[in-house]
This record gives sequence, C-alpha cells and structure tokens, in this order.
Amino acid sequence: MMVRGKLLNFRVLPVVLITLLVLAHGRPALSAGYGPMEPVSIDVSNTAALQRGARNFVNYCMGCHSAEFMRFNRLAEGLQLTEVQVMENLAFTAERPHDTMQIAMRMSDAERWFGQPPPDLSLIARVRGTTWLYNFLRSYYPDESRPTGMNNLNLTGTSMPHVLWELQGEQRPVFETRGVGGVEREVFVGFEQVSPGLLTPEEYDAFVRDIVTFLSFVGEPIQLERQRLGVIVIAFLLVFGLFAWLLQQEIWKDVK
Ligand code: HEC
Repeated sequence: MMVRGKLLNFRVLPVVLITLLVLAHGRPALSAGYGPMEPVSIDVSNTAALQRGARNFVNYCMGCHSAEFMRFNRLAEGLQLTEVQVMENLAFTAERPHDTMQIAMRMSDAERWFGQPPPDLSLIARVRGTTWLYNFLRSYYPDESRPTGMNNLNLTGTSMPHVLWELQGEQRPVFETRGVGGVEREVFVGFEQVSPGLLTPEEYDAFVRDIVTFLSFVGEPIQLERQRLGVIVIAFLLVFGLFAWLLQQEIWKDVK
C-alpha cells in the first residue's frame, strides 16, 4: 500500500507529464545539413498528384532506388488505376501485378559506382519526413570538389547525383556574413538561379512535391483509409455521445 501511494504521488505527476511532453516535442530531427527547410503541404488524397508522383518516381528514381515494400497491384489500388494500366505504364522490369517495386541494379555494383548504395525508399518519407525530402531535392548546387560535380545543402557530401538537374537548371547558394551570437558566420540566405532548367522554379517545386506525395503514400499506403475511417469514427462518437447524454438525463431525472 505504501509503495502504491508513492507511485501515485500527485506531486510527481506534473513532472512526469512535462518530461513526456518535452521528449515528444524534442524528437531529434534527422536533418543532415544546414540548408533551407521550406514547409511543404502535400495531399495524399489528391489522386492526380499521386499518379504524377508515381510517374516521376518510376522515370527519375527507380533507375537506382527500389520501393520493395510496395506491390504493383497495391499501387494500382492507391492510384485508382487498373492493374493493366499500372503494369503497362509504371512497371518496366516487373512482370506480375503482385511483384514489388524492385530494381535490377545489384547493390554491390551500386556501392562500387556511387560509394554508397542507393537506399530502398519504401519508408524514407517516414524516416526523413516529407519536408526534408522536398527540400533535399531542391538543394543541389555545383561543387567541383565532389565526384558528381554536385553537392547538396541538406545532405552535405551526398553521393547521389542531381538526377533532376535538367529540369531544375543550375542554382548557386548565396551566403552572407552575419554576426550570430557575437561570432561572425556564413549564413545561407537563398538560392540564385544561374541557368534555367526545362521547368520554371514553380513547376520544378510542383514536380518535386508530387514525388514527395508519392513517397508519403508508399511509406504508409493505408493513410487514406485511416483518414476516411477517422472521420467516420469521430462522427459515430458524436452521435453515440448525444444518445449517451440523453440516456443519462432520462435515468437520473427521477433521482435528483
Ligand atoms: C543515379 C542513381 C540515383 C538516382 C537516379 C536517384 N538516386 Fe537517390 N540516391 C542515390 C545514392 C547513391 C544515394 C546514397 C547517397 C548518400 O547517402 O549520400 C541516394 C540517396 C537518396 C536518399 C537518401 C538520403 C538519406 O540519406 O536519407 C533519398 C531520399 C533519395 N536518394 C531520393 C531520390 C529520389 C526521390 C530520386 C528520384 C528523383 C532519386 N533519389 C534518384 C542514387 C540515386
């Protein structure tokens, strides 16, 4: 009894709650650079964006990256396409709808070519978050010291080439010397477009946003279903709550 009383000590409770809050809030962000982190809002229920994202991913990323937790028939369901449409337009190496989004490249070769194997991207949106992914694909700049001739402000020293450079064109980061906490520091202030790409900056952002939307879907294909169910559950609870309240009024009206 003594022990129980101590465990439920109410003076400890606020401390525990605050600690939990701080821990939940202070979750370390896995950012590996010091580049821009512009917010992005993606909408996985936007089927057109998902379809464009899938097309972009298959054309520009699947040369090196797999998404091996995703099956083509599940993809068809999420993109609201038929299995035949998906197999004809999005599956280049796979033969059957229940195949996963594998790639042909051998990881040992990839490691030799790039120094690092391109990771499977099935869960990358959950590991890195959509904001990081969006900004990563927008933060490449020329850097002669890198083997690919490119570096990335959000993943310094990355061995992934800037596979979208033709679309984005070339941009340079602009730094300013500012006093931060009494110390002079180079601070990143923005990118400056050096030569245009095939897309305008706005079109390029939209292009990247579609890929990120697709990767978010791949990371959690059930999220559409989850959101839909959530609305139904809340609606049910509201109606049930009303009836529970009415019932309570009825039962207690004679007691009072
Ligand atoms: C030519 C091969 C190649 C292509 C094409 C390619 N990547 Fe990569 N990617 C790599 C390599 C190699 C790495 C590992 C690099 C590293 O960690 O520095 C990588 C790493 C990544 C990472 C992980 C970064 C991290 O450490 O968390 C992401 C995200 C990523 N790529 C996204 C994409 C997307 C999206 C596309 C399509 C637009 C794409 N990649 C196309 C080679 C490629």
